[in-house]
Amino acid sequence: MAAGENGATGATLIVGGTRGIGRRLAEQYAERGRHVVITGRDRDQTEAIATEIGGATTGVALDLTEPTQIHVALEPLGTVDRVVLAAIERDSNTVREYEVTRAIKLATLKLVGYTEVLHCLCTRMHDDTSVLLFGGLAKDRPYPGSTTVTSVNGAVTTMVRTLATELAPVRVNALHPGVVGDSPAWINATEFLASVKERTPTGRLVTMDEVTGAALFLLENTAVNGVNLAVDGGWVLA
Ligand SMILES: NC(=O)c1ccc[n+]([C@@H]2O[C@H](COP(=O)([O-])OP(=O)(O)OC[C@H]3O[C@@H](n4cnc5c(N)ncnc54)[C@H](OP(=O)(O)O)[C@@H]3O)[C@@H](O)[C@H]2O)c1
Repeated sequence: MAAGENGATGATLIVGGTRGIGRRLAEQYAERGRHVVITGRDRDQTEAIATEIGGATTGVALDLTEPTQIHVALEPLGTVDRVVLAAIERDSNTVREYEVTRAIKLATLKLVGYTEVLHCLCTRMHDDTSVLLFGGLAKDRPYPGSTTVTSVNGAVTTMVRTLATELAPVRVNALHPGVVGDSPAWINATEFLASVKERTPTGRLVTMDEVTGAALFLLENTAVNGVNLAVDGGWVLA
């Protein structure tokens, strides 16, 4: 692996960068003058969102639930400085009314899809490349219907260890948000958000900017490696 420069020269890839936390992080990297590449499933929509984000942002269409196609989608990328794996296709799926196809989608997306992106890009990484995986605190706070979400987010904690070992000296970390109050995922969940707020020691909900602040720390601090960081206002303590 060629040593990278401190000033970024390659791409900052944000898989799942069309909305929510991934998009917010893409905007912040674009403001820093990075060459950002966002992904979403629909090519036209992803390219349009890349234009909205502005700067040197481009869009690539990619579906993590179709892992054998990922290498084709990523072919146009050159050197990568940062890889953020933020995509999610939520699966509320109880054991009693289990929908296997939906569970397979989510398990494939995070476990195989996230890993395959790194497999495809590993020869385009350099010594200063860093990787961030998104898990989530459903791993510690299960709820009815969360079996697959809880399992895959739990698996992210262990993936970080193997990936940081295998890809060294590339750094690999994971971020596990609690319920992010201003993220689009919870836009119609007023009652749920109020109950989370009540059980959060800080007395308020985590914001997307707090999550992206933690993401920037994990991605940019050159000594942080193999870390699973919770950003939840202490929610898991309550
Ligand atoms: N929001 C929260 O409160 C929260 C809490 C805990 C953990 N997290 C974690 O944080 C990360 C970001 O969450 P978020 O709520 O910001 O996400 P989000 O708003 O739901 O956005 C999901 C992103 O994933 C992409 N995506 C969906 N299905 C995909 C597929 N099959 N293949 C590739 N990309 C796909 C979407 O793009 P298109 O729809 O354009 O394809 C979109 O860019 C996730 O990993 C999530 O598990 C979030």
